[in-house]
Amino acid sequence: MKLTVNDREFTIDADPEMPLLWVLRDVIGLTGTKFGCGAAQCGACTVHVDGQPIRSCVTPVSAVEGQKVVTIEGLGGNKVADAVITAWTALDVPQCGYCQSGQVMAAVALLTETPKPSDADIDAAMDGNLCRCATYQRIRAGIHEAARTLEG
Ligand code: FES
Ligand code: FES
Repeated sequence: MKLTVNDREFTIDADPEMPLLWVLRDVIGLTGTKFGCGAAQCGACTVHVDGQPIRSCVTPVSAVEGQKVVTIEGLGGNKVADAVITAWTALDVPQCGYCQSGQVMAAVALLTETPKPSDADIDAAMDGNLCRCATYQRIRAGIHEAARTLEG
């Protein structure tokens, strides 16, 4: 199969049913995307496919052939992502960090669609991204901070 990940083309030899997460981590070697539950329940494995956030742990790799996959490693140079990462750093959002690549991917997708999200928008968009360290308040503040930066 041919995959486009972070603007690079990969030809991979894998079972079409293999979850995209496995391909990203174990075949391509992009380990920034994390395995949490493996059942679409936590959001740790969130990546973008054609700009939309998806759970890579339950997405067969064959389903993304011909689409653009972006992982946390591929966000550089994206102005929304830069604003999110700057806000995350300024507000010290992560604690252990395990969930945070998924949180950042979800936040970037939200702000790309909705540049000035309300608290309700944030809650709706980030609801499926769990954080065992309970950084939810800082995630919300980080999204508002990034929105302010983008507005300016
Ligand atoms: S690892 Fe995919 S949603 Fe939890
Ligand atoms: S920062 Fe530890 S799980 Fe979210």
